[in-house]
Amino acid sequence: LSRKVEMTNWEKGHYINYKKMNENLNIVRQRLNRPLTYAEKILYSHLDDPHGQDIERGKSYLKLRPDRVACQDATAQMAILQFMSAGMPSVATPTTVHCDHLIEAQVGGEKDLARATDINKEVYDFLSTSCAKYNIGFWKPGSGIIHQILLENYAFPGGLLIGTDSHTPNAGGLGMAAIGVGGADAVDVMANLPWELKAPKVIGVKLTGQLSGWTSPKDIILKVAGILTVKGGTGAIVEYHGPGVDSLSCTGMGTICNMGAEIGATTSLFPFNDRMYDYLAKTKRTEIGDYAREYARELREDEGAEYDELIELNLSELEPHINGPFTPDLATPISKFKEAVKENKWPEELKVGLIGSCTNSSYEDMNRAASIAEDAMAHGIKAKSLFTVTPGSEQIRATIERDGQLKTFEEFGGMVLANACGPCIGQWARADVSKGEPNSIISSYNRNFTGRNDANPATHAFVTSPDLVVAMTIAGTLAFNPLTDTLKGKDGKEFKLKEPSGAALPPNGFDPGEDTYQAPPEDRSSVSVAVSPTSDRLQLLQPFEAWNGKDAEDMPILIKAQGKTTTDHISMAGPWLKYRGHLDNISNNMLIGAINSDNGEANKIKNILTGDYDAVPAVARDYKKNGIKWVVVGDWNYGEGSSREHAALEPRHLGGLAIITRSFARIHETNLKKQGMLPLTFSDPADYDKIGPHDKVDLLITELGVGKPMTLRVHPAKGGDAFNVELAHTFNEGQIEWFKNGSALNTMAKAHKS
Ligand code: F3S
Repeated sequence: LSRKVEMTNWEKGHYINYKKMNENLNIVRQRLNRPLTYAEKILYSHLDDPHGQDIERGKSYLKLRPDRVACQDATAQMAILQFMSAGMPSVATPTTVHCDHLIEAQVGGEKDLARATDINKEVYDFLSTSCAKYNIGFWKPGSGIIHQILLENYAFPGGLLIGTDSHTPNAGGLGMAAIGVGGADAVDVMANLPWELKAPKVIGVKLTGQLSGWTSPKDIILKVAGILTVKGGTGAIVEYHGPGVDSLSCTGMGTICNMGAEIGATTSLFPFNDRMYDYLAKTKRTEIGDYAREYARELREDEGAEYDELIELNLSELEPHINGPFTPDLATPISKFKEAVKENKWPEELKVGLIGSCTNSSYEDMNRAASIAEDAMAHGIKAKSLFTVTPGSEQIRATIERDGQLKTFEEFGGMVLANACGPCIGQWARADVSKGEPNSIISSYNRNFTGRNDANPATHAFVTSPDLVVAMTIAGTLAFNPLTDTLKGKDGKEFKLKEPSGAALPPNGFDPGEDTYQAPPEDRSSVSVAVSPTSDRLQLLQPFEAWNGKDAEDMPILIKAQGKTTTDHISMAGPWLKYRGHLDNISNNMLIGAINSDNGEANKIKNILTGDYDAVPAVARDYKKNGIKWVVVGDWNYGEGSSREHAALEPRHLGGLAIITRSFARIHETNLKKQGMLPLTFSDPADYDKIGPHDKVDLLITELGVGKPMTLRVHPAKGGDAFNVELAHTFNEGQIEWFKNGSALNTMAKAHKS
């Protein structure tokens, strides 16, 4: 195993280290003396201290050494700003930055890209100069979506990657444990600190049978999301295995892993197989494929490996699914969908169909989608709904341009958007319906929370495979089932669409398209990083204050949030994306989407100093100005959604001390700790109901200790006696230091100085 194989074709001197991984694994194997899952093998082979590390699934905190870090442009700004404040000359772990989130879809790829390059100039300049300065690979706007680029260039079997985006698990399609983290975690690894992860549980999904017809890899995850729900994967890695795996393409496996983020899974994984080898070979990495074959025994689960939960799916019986609206786990098989549309009174007319995104823009996806469009056009009909195509990368775009699928989509009536996130992250200047108008759209994306795509809360967004998106787009209605229903051709004759088909990999290889990569220069000493002091989009960071060592008394509850409070509710995307590098400006979106339990409204809370109702950020600023710390009370799975650390930075910046909920989504909970906040949960979730939105609270912080509960004393607004509520937390020793020092970064800077 002691060969020298580069991790990627884009860098020199960063080798895949199967030998070291194997050694680490053997140490752990001797200690645990039981068969291991593949997920465990990857994690344990990346342990910082394989001899001494405590290992108990679901309990211990693993200290890990990831192979790589990747950041998208929206999250990279804050990550790099934070990295800069730690004062190091270059990143310690290979890192790349990808410009994909800031490009708004308006009129089509080329023009949208040119406009974005202009509008975002100072951000791109900052990223490009800081990447050059700190030895980071920079993928320019137009290069494609981070997860697609990672799969095409950086993912490898058995590797461990962290990325500042929740859909990082996409690289699981190449057998890599790729985990979405907050920018603060990325900063740790860029600065050579071990990265900490609570040892995940492992959920096994055993696939039998074979995919065929209209069923595609996407349907596996749509079905699994329906079974496990948005909370079901929390704290777990989902590991696919079984004979059904071989009927899936490598990129199809990527799709499944990508959308695994929707069930809250830490990541999802497939074992190394020949389909991955083929993909590596097609993307000019045969040497990695050969090396992986040598290490193949450890690139899958051991026989008899035990899962914390096991789901079995027979692919031969799996129907195509459509999930939504408003949540990705509301799964409906196509045979029941028409009925569901009628029963629930979802708007039947389909306004827009959107294919592509990081989830579903492989060559295979495009190929199959184009085959359906061609079939329709052969009968003289085209898309009835609006139709957009988002290629996942410049390489995919160039390849489908060369091979003809792109032309098919255009003839079919489609608009080809830039190689970027676009409508998936709300970067969509949608013009066909007005705000508030109920309507339906269907996409091959992964996420469909309210308002995500077009900021219209009345838009019913459904997610499904690209195949079904195209079929529905032809029919122009959600009440269409291509498996059973007919369409009317131009000649007036009824016909049924043919089942989609198309090769998974381009027979003539990939066309790389335009060169969109900027390698860091050899000599980086003369590079200076561009940040204007007058910028409204970028702001250098000031360290947060350390804890004063005292209990906090008489604090107001800024908002008692009720129901789903995702990171989109806490720190909205859309127009706010442009302030990602400017903490004070972006804080004006803090919690504006959260529903106030007091009045059932968003962004309308009572300021207890004035008695008036006002916007959430305005009230928080007023408390801060008056030196008053505050807390938030939240519901179940608070902070689900994305890895955005702004959702943690903003409350910290505006004077918040603690977020107290029934439960947290993992990434958000960690992000709050990193920024020096206290994420706490009710020991008895029913206590959520005992607290009124206008009560005041004391928090006995001096009780903070590993595994120890903390007391919240509640002073009811309606009068009467104060009462105590017991709170729990998941802080370990190291994390308590973060809180005491004011943030993880302060702790790091302190360690650097001493
Ligand atoms: Fe971008 Fe949407 Fe994927 S925002 S990274 S295309 S989930």
